[in-house]
Amino acid sequence: MLVRLFLVLASAAGAVSAQDADLEAGRDLFLYFCAECHGKDGASVGPIAEMLAIEPPDLTDLAERNQGVFPIKAVAMQIDGRTPNDAHSYMPVFGPSLDSDNSSSVALPDGQTMLVTQRLANLIAYLQSVQDQGN
Ligand code: HEC
Repeated sequence: MLVRLFLVLASAAGAVSAQDADLEAGRDLFLYFCAECHGKDGASVGPIAEMLAIEPPDLTDLAERNQGVFPIKAVAMQIDGRTPNDAHSYMPVFGPSLDSDNSSSVALPDGQTMLVTQRLANLIAYLQSVQDQGN
């Protein structure tokens, strides 16, 4: 259940985006792990949500709610469970489920690069792809 996710400093030349992330795989992961609460499109509420005391938030306006910047680091930490869970107890921890042998670098808004498991990178790429554009 080791989650291989850590920060590395990006050199100017070494900054990479999640170009090697696989959107389709990310979508599959989302449908498998997340859709029952967050809805198939991430914007609505899935069947399990009715049983929760807190309604799962719309995941297509994460960027909009963060001044137009997709909050990759916060999202990653929320998904893998490193964000303290007291206010977030209805959202399961997915770190172990998303562990994989390969890692991938994702670029953060502040210019740093974050190394995450390939599966988490795929999922994040998918979430980024469903952000509302017009806001
Ligand atoms: C059992 C239901 C459930 C499942 C399954 C679930 N979530 Fe959540 N999620 C929630 C709830 C409820 C919240 C709001 C928690 C809170 O505010 O305390 C939440 C919050 C979040 C947030 C924070 C959103 C914000 O507004 O800051 C993100 C990101 C997120 N979920 C992503 C995911 C992803 C990705 C998956 C699949 C890997 C997933 N969730 C699976 C219930 C779920």
